[in-house]
Amino acid sequence: MVTANLKSIEPCTFVIFGATGNLARIKLLPALIHLEEAGRLPNDTRIVCIGRRELDDAGWRREVAEILGDQVKGGLGDDLLDRFLERVDYFQADMTDREAFHRLKLHLTEGAQYPDNMIFYLAIRPQEFGAVSHNIAEVGLQMEESGWRRLVIEKPFGYDLESAEILNTRLHKDFEEHQLFRIDHYLGKGTVQNVMVFRFANLMLEPLWNRNYIDHVQITHSESKGIETRAEYYDGSGALRDMIQSHLLQMLTLVAMEPPASLDAEALRDEKVKVLRSIRPIPQNAVHAHAFRAQYTRGRVGHEKVPGYLEEEGVPAGSTTETFAAVKLYIDNWRWRGVPFYLRTGKRMARGNSMIAIRFKRPPQQLFQETPIEQIKPNWLLLGIQPDEVLRMELQVKQPGLELRTTTTQLDAAYCTACERTLDAYEGLLLDVIVGDRSLFLRYDEVSWAWKVVDPILKIWSMERDYIHTYPAGIWGPRESNRLFEREDQRWRNDLMDEGSED
Ligand code: BG6
Repeated sequence: MVTANLKSIEPCTFVIFGATGNLARIKLLPALIHLEEAGRLPNDTRIVCIGRRELDDAGWRREVAEILGDQVKGGLGDDLLDRFLERVDYFQADMTDREAFHRLKLHLTEGAQYPDNMIFYLAIRPQEFGAVSHNIAEVGLQMEESGWRRLVIEKPFGYDLESAEILNTRLHKDFEEHQLFRIDHYLGKGTVQNVMVFRFANLMLEPLWNRNYIDHVQITHSESKGIETRAEYYDGSGALRDMIQSHLLQMLTLVAMEPPASLDAEALRDEKVKVLRSIRPIPQNAVHAHAFRAQYTRGRVGHEKVPGYLEEEGVPAGSTTETFAAVKLYIDNWRWRGVPFYLRTGKRMARGNSMIAIRFKRPPQQLFQETPIEQIKPNWLLLGIQPDEVLRMELQVKQPGLELRTTTTQLDAAYCTACERTLDAYEGLLLDVIVGDRSLFLRYDEVSWAWKVVDPILKIWSMERDYIHTYPAGIWGPRESNRLFEREDQRWRNDLMDEGSED
């Protein structure tokens, strides 16, 4: 977690593999220039961008200037951009060519241009993680002789439990665990970290934070966008792997975990692992009762007509990959036994929204039965992750007037709206890598327990390849997903504005 000031930050060489790809353009380069703007990159820090294309430094810098002009909110000062570009170099390499790694080593280690502390960021296709990290090590670039060396691995870490194990073993042949940074960018989001602060810096809610008062928890991530240009990756992945196994399960751990003994990386990760281990395994014959999947067909998002998943470029005909997934999980421990956690994600839904919604139980006695209030709505606590970072509590109050009627009122602690936010999740995480703080990065046991949660679902879905539910683009997901709910009074809570209207 970002606690570093400039004095404690050592200069380093930040090497990006796959620098011309989507992730680097959309997330990494903007995050790095934000760190420049915040004065968190020491003078000698260098950024080496590796790509396949033939380009010289000047040509690449022009591209970077364009990328950043498009991506960075609030515009860029010329001084800032120039300062940043001076740090940026291009290195042409085909990552399957082992010879290129010898050239890379010479380039990085000859002369005094590049600091000895090095970060290797794998912004590449997941199937290349193993080979590229091995090639780095084969030329000895992982050896911490004169400076530290760190490897950042993007998600998905593996394809299922078995492949994750294989990847992990492979990485450990060449790197020490302290050098590995398995990133889940959701842990860098302000409101996701705020879940911990909210829970552990305020005593008020702790007595209520358990099965006695909480009816259920929903974690939703919806996107209005489709799969864009990522058909190749997405069709082999699907929504369950892409979002639930990683980001949504991480959010669940923060909601459900016990207070850690300290904010030390191991203490924090121990508690998260305990939650994942306590998730009740889904037996294969219960997968349908616990998980639901669907795929978008053509429709309208806002005013725009959009194609269906099968019509997107690069998607194989007849694919049954899910673009919507919902699961119901139970955490079998003292705090949560019997409380359902509903996790849901989808592409091409009505709006882009990430939110944790916690529904409390109804009061034990219906005191207002003889009044016009037929049934009191339950309290909700909403943690908006994006676009608005907000903490909202919904309470029932009496409506003004002679009759005893209630209405829902909201206590809002909005701390950042979409328009005010200039930092994404990556700035803090990249800084953590630079200062060597691994608390917001995943330990392998977290990854493997998360795979154990979703693996039974993936197995059944991979066998049932002849049919998938559909939903027209632009809605809040298919109604059939309601079948996951335990009781009739449970409904999806779509966004901050839908005031529990379906209760
Ligand atoms: C990525 C997924 O990890 O997270 C994408 O691969 C998804 O499919 C993205 O769109 C969502 O992240 P964010 O930060 O835009 O909410």
